[in-house]
Amino acid sequence: MSRQDPTHLRSYRWYGPDSLRAFGHRSRARQSGLGDSDFAGKPVVGILNTWTDLNSCHLHFKTTVEAIKRGVLQEGGLPMEIPVMSCGETLTKPTSMLYRNFLAMEAEEMIRANPVDAAVLLGGCDKSTPALLMGAISAGVPAIYVPSGPMIKGNWNGQVLGSGADVWKYWDERRAGNLSEEEWREIEGGIARSPGHCMTMGTAATMTALAETMGFSIPGSSSVPAMDANHARLAAEAGRQAVRNAWEGPRPGELATRKAFENAVVVDMALGGSTNAIVHLLAMAGRAGINFNLDDFDVISRKTPLLADLRPSGRFLMDDFYGAGGLCALLNRMGNLLHLDVPTVNGMTLGENITGSRVFNDEVIRNCDNPLADDGGTAVLRGNLAPDGAVIKHSAATPELLQHTGPAVVFEDYNDLAARIDDPELEVSADSVLVLRNAGPVGAPGMPEWGMLPIPKKLLEQGVRDMVRISDARMSGTSYGTCVLHIAPESAAGGTLAAVQDGDLITLDVSGRRLELDVPEDEIKRRLAASDERTIAYARGYTKLYTEHVTQADRGCDFDFLEGDEPTPEPEIH
Ligand code: FES
Repeated sequence: MSRQDPTHLRSYRWYGPDSLRAFGHRSRARQSGLGDSDFAGKPVVGILNTWTDLNSCHLHFKTTVEAIKRGVLQEGGLPMEIPVMSCGETLTKPTSMLYRNFLAMEAEEMIRANPVDAAVLLGGCDKSTPALLMGAISAGVPAIYVPSGPMIKGNWNGQVLGSGADVWKYWDERRAGNLSEEEWREIEGGIARSPGHCMTMGTAATMTALAETMGFSIPGSSSVPAMDANHARLAAEAGRQAVRNAWEGPRPGELATRKAFENAVVVDMALGGSTNAIVHLLAMAGRAGINFNLDDFDVISRKTPLLADLRPSGRFLMDDFYGAGGLCALLNRMGNLLHLDVPTVNGMTLGENITGSRVFNDEVIRNCDNPLADDGGTAVLRGNLAPDGAVIKHSAATPELLQHTGPAVVFEDYNDLAARIDDPELEVSADSVLVLRNAGPVGAPGMPEWGMLPIPKKLLEQGVRDMVRISDARMSGTSYGTCVLHIAPESAAGGTLAAVQDGDLITLDVSGRRLELDVPEDEIKRRLAASDERTIAYARGYTKLYTEHVTQADRGCDFDFLEGDEPTPEPEIH
């Protein structure tokens, strides 16, 4: 596409013609104080900004967006900031996952409905990354993803604190009576010390790394801490690159290829990334029309070594990862496991981008011949309890529990769990298998991060810190423990999970990739037929739309009507 011919720009349809409508668009641009030299024939870069006071991970986006605008102007484009919803992980209830598809729809529609020639997507906190990318893939306009970067390390009494992982750890100690109220408050004051996303290898760090791996970000940007000056420098470069891409592409669909998804899973496994990445990548692949499923994760996991020693699976935090060379160094180290010929947003291949990147700390980023584990951190399970699949992050589990048979202790839903888990009369032992149902995409709704079920208090007091837990929920990327997640179909959709009763034996066999309920099939059928249908009643609103159209975890929990790569017609302008 010629850079000299503005009629090739999408925004020309709004601003260029000699028509009544274009007159209106131009006159309103002048209302903004713009003139011919500002917008005539220049690529319009829409900057989708997920800033809000409600999302502390994105607080610095007010200044990041200025850096992006500076880059756009430097390259001869016109920046237009577009506020979109944020779905921050901590405050959005009942779960930010309920709103991932909402943001994805908003991103897609805002790009398509407006004179946007290229988009810059500003995200980081868990769901914002997949949501923005899902929307951009469906919109089909060139897009660059700018990650927020991780916050600085937490600190308490000279100890390093990691987001999420240390919350769960110290909360268990508090429930066991080992931490005073004052110490607990000190931890509260030291665990989140700056803007930026969680600095463990949780969902945010996982998804931003995978976005970069897939070619959606300026190389190196996902590892840069939010408060590092390189964050603004790379944001400005994203702005410059967006102007070039408005003319020349690539479009998101050219990046979201099967090879790119395979690369993303390889890197997810090498990082010991969040189990949430599975749901998000499946949803993104669905948008791109790529045939990619749970079995692809398991196949890749079995042959990918775990190389990054990052919490919650390992010891270090994102700042250490950055200092060790960051994602580019990791990618270069494992180059022979990746498709290096895939394109990226800067016009170079992945292989060209990472050439020369070096690892500076072999403890944080291991050598391929000295991995933390020979296979990836996540396994896909099947069996009569999960005919359509379930997942476990075994790299963050207790090795002795990965082959386990125990009696079920069943919780009907989260309220039942909260009411009884610490009851001294609860019949439970360290060998029990805790079961939570009605926590899936439809049943909860929104598939909240309830999958790291709390250890019963009386077992905590006996020193138990892990046990087998199974559910149709997700768990935070910063969580750990022997937790089987994403059971599909979920109990509210008629899955076997709905038939489990207290005392039934459940077998977890991670090496055999099995999850089985030791109850005859005809008895399971009888129980399911006799079980009361749980009423999911939302008479109106977004949650009604959600529960009627969300897909199961093995399809990524997207809306059924948003899947697929059928092009949506460009809006008429008249
Ligand atoms: Fe925003 Fe963890 S709370 S990334």
